[in-house]
Amino acid sequence: MNKQIILHSRPQGLPDATTWRVVDNEIPECSEGQILVKLIYVSIDPAMRGWIRDQRSYLPPVALDDVMRAITAGVVIESKHEKFKVGDYVVGSGGVQQYIATSGKGWYPVQTDLAPLPLFLSALGMTGFTAYFGLLEVGKPQPGETILVSGAAGAVGSMVGQIGKIKECRVVGIAGGEKKCRYIVEDLGFDAAIDYKNEDVRKSIKEHCPDGVDVFFDNVGGEILDAALTRINRKARIVVCGGISQYNSDEMRGPKNYYSILMNRARMEGFIVFDFAHQYETAARQLALWLSQGKIRSKEHIVEGIENFYQTFLRLFSGEKLGKLILKVNQD
Ligand SMILES: NC(=O)c1ccc[n+]([C@@H]2O[C@H](COP(=O)([O-])OP(=O)(O)OC[C@H]3O[C@@H](n4cnc5c(N)ncnc54)[C@H](OP(=O)(O)O)[C@@H]3O)[C@@H](O)[C@H]2O)c1
Repeated sequence: MNKQIILHSRPQGLPDATTWRVVDNEIPECSEGQILVKLIYVSIDPAMRGWIRDQRSYLPPVALDDVMRAITAGVVIESKHEKFKVGDYVVGSGGVQQYIATSGKGWYPVQTDLAPLPLFLSALGMTGFTAYFGLLEVGKPQPGETILVSGAAGAVGSMVGQIGKIKECRVVGIAGGEKKCRYIVEDLGFDAAIDYKNEDVRKSIKEHCPDGVDVFFDNVGGEILDAALTRINRKARIVVCGGISQYNSDEMRGPKNYYSILMNRARMEGFIVFDFAHQYETAARQLALWLSQGKIRSKEHIVEGIENFYQTFLRLFSGEKLGKLILKVNQD
């Protein structure tokens, strides 16, 4: 059977146990021109909260009773497609389920002799690409500049900080709790960390960014964004990657201190990683090289069992995880 997570209702605020349902269906047939993929790993992303909201966005909302959208990694177990063969490991938008029959559009093979499969959902996948393009193409950091990153112990934020160090910047991260703050400084090489749950963020930014902030890579929004805006330098770049503090709110809060953008002739720019799809290969090659050289580290937090999807998803908001959150839905 094919266990699937389907969208049952649209939540107000934080999703609850009624938002999704687990259903059992037949494993789909592999038709001519298709591949049948056994999905093994499902990427658990904050973006999923946006995908179930009924509003205009960069992708259409997931429809009620449809399989929950997700980026996945798995193995081809049947192929009627000339470009894929049985045994190929592949990444694509497979949804939160155990099997998918697909035309292969948007799917690509990955080399598991280079890195374990989960890494193709983290450092060598969308997470790494988001950090890479968001920081280098939108933030455009220069050696010697100061980068401040929120959600710094998270999947994207931890990559941003490490790439920032490779680019010879001072890197300061904002994360929740002492353990995560210690992790980004001691294990990942950030210059300093700010514990937003226990510190006055505004004061701490002033202390740890004595020359001001040149690039603010924001994953969080809300009060943290406002605090960062008070310390930006002239011509600073504010990279709007995400705003997780606002995702469960029905009235998203915009930046209060936006006037600082004018005063400092700064630039605030959002981006979606898909915009850079034509350059993924370049990023993948560079990230793989940095990984092999030990210049970046990737941590995956893997939870087993498709039926644990909902509780696992909530960890994005409670912060009860370290690194890239992944759900394992099948044995390899
Ligand atoms: N633009 C794009 O194309 C793109 C692509 C991928 C991801 N993103 C965005 O990038 C951001 C990070 O994604 P990710 O996959 O790397 O997730 P993640 O950072 O690994 O996980 C989410 C983290 O956010 C923090 N958080 C949750 N609620 C918070 C709050 N109210 N205030 C402050 N921090 C809070 C938690 O860390 P603490 O324990 O430190 O609180 C949690 O661990 C998200 O906003 C996501 O939507 C954007």
